[in-house]
Amino acid sequence: MRLSQILFSQGFGSRRLCAGLIHHGEVKIHGDVVDDPDADFDPQGLQFEVSGKTWPYHEKALVMLHKPAGYECSQKPRHHPSVMSLLPAPLRERGVQPVGRLDEDTTGLLLLTDDGTLIHKLTSPKHHVPKVYEAHCKHPVDAEQLERLLAGVELHEHELKVHREPELVKALAAEAMGTHGVRLTLAEGKYHQVKRMMAAVSNRVERLHRPQFGDLVLPADLPQGQWCWVAGPEAILGAPGGA
Ligand code: URA
Repeated sequence: MRLSQILFSQGFGSRRLCAGLIHHGEVKIHGDVVDDPDADFDPQGLQFEVSGKTWPYHEKALVMLHKPAGYECSQKPRHHPSVMSLLPAPLRERGVQPVGRLDEDTTGLLLLTDDGTLIHKLTSPKHHVPKVYEAHCKHPVDAEQLERLLAGVELHEHELKVHREPELVKALAAEAMGTHGVRLTLAEGKYHQVKRMMAAVSNRVERLHRPQFGDLVLPADLPQGQWCWVAGPEAILGAPGGA
């Protein structure tokens, strides 16, 4: 693939801008400046340097962000900055978007990708990719609440009053964490689902964190507000056809 095409595909701006970066000696491969935009490279496994920063080539971008509170997942945030502002320009430029949403006040693992098929797979209710949430609640979490969460609760209407959800929503797992904490594993990703499930058992979520999405666990050494590459969809969904 031509070097200018590689840069273009990775979000470094228009074809002209990418050719300009290369002409100006801003791009290195294996430590050497390459100033020919037409130079040919195999992009698979390629590491390239742009203005002193090294980037791995990824046909599709898949990253996880340790979302801090105070950021909105919406593309058009209304009251707080967007999570997109925590990502570098090339990732924004190539069109990565959040996989589902976390509320503004929720922290934890947020996936972002420019792979539309993967977004569908990870968010479609058909695929039931489990997500783990840790909630700190206003009132103690007791055994009866856990049983009800596992048996299924009817979600309260949320403030947008879209419609009443007729079916019961069950947690795949519900464990107490200390007196006021609960760790819930959910298959769906309904609007404010954890907060509404806890409200349905007469409790109230005060803090919410997502430590896990599918098989992928938020690394303990990824600080809030920072992002890192995810090896591939298998890191979330497990090996295809595997156990
Ligand atoms: N459930 C919620 O209530 N909020 C989130 O951010 C995620 C799940």
